[in-house]
Amino acid sequence: MSQDQWSSVERYIVDAVVGADPVLEAAIADSAAAGLPPIAVSPNEGKFLHLLARAIGAQRILEIGTLGGYSAIWLGRALSSDGTLITLEAVEKHAEVARKNIARAGLADRVDLRLGRALETLPKILAAREGPFDLIFIDADKPAICDYFEWSLKLARPGTMIVVDNVVRTGKIVDANSADASVQGVRRFYQMLASEKRASATAIQTVGSKGYDGFSIAIVNG
Ligand code: SAH
Ligand code: DHB
Ligand code: MG
Repeated sequence: MSQDQWSSVERYIVDAVVGADPVLEAAIADSAAAGLPPIAVSPNEGKFLHLLARAIGAQRILEIGTLGGYSAIWLGRALSSDGTLITLEAVEKHAEVARKNIARAGLADRVDLRLGRALETLPKILAAREGPFDLIFIDADKPAICDYFEWSLKLARPGTMIVVDNVVRTGKIVDANSADASVQGVRRFYQMLASEKRASATAIQTVGSKGYDGFSIAIVNG
């Protein structure tokens, strides 16, 4: 199986069940034009996140890693008018592009972008008692996934869903000797989950336009 096949099957699925969406397409186009890396979730993954949020009736969502706001738009669209998505981004240029994309999507009233390094913002969110969140999407720097998961548990309640992106990394996660700091960050995360009594988790492998990767899903125990 090849990347070409994964991409054409993804196109087929997206044509069938996602469809054309000028606001989301503009978010990707403007992110690319501004020189942001092409690492947003794919359209069918974005819709998957959206459906997960709707399935659990999420009205308070936390995202770590905004980029151009593509996944934030998908998640923000799952909220009712009084729901909130707080999304964290360290890079000013990414935040600037994301704010415009989020405003064009009509979500500026619901999506609250916080500029800064997530490990500095998360303690402020806890101190301000802005949690607990119903859904947390971790998609920032991979070496810090364990830290983000630990903060997520502090900002959660029993039943909170925590989704982590990029937990397969073209299969490199099975290489214990990998010199890739992102791979080692993901491996530490699986080790953490292996002994984590506060949450129950699994991971799913994915292929598509973004290559071979995967996401994990965890539910915080009561
Ligand atoms: N969730 C986005 C993609 C995020 S890419 C989407 O699917 O549309 C990862 C983002 O995390 C990048 O924009 C990067 O700048 C940001 N990031 C990296 N390290 C960070 C940190 N320490 N704190 C906050 N954001 C960070
Ligand atoms: C990378 C980060 C992501 O969030 C992603 O979806 C794909 C790649 C990266 O840092 O390489
Ligand atoms: Mg990602």
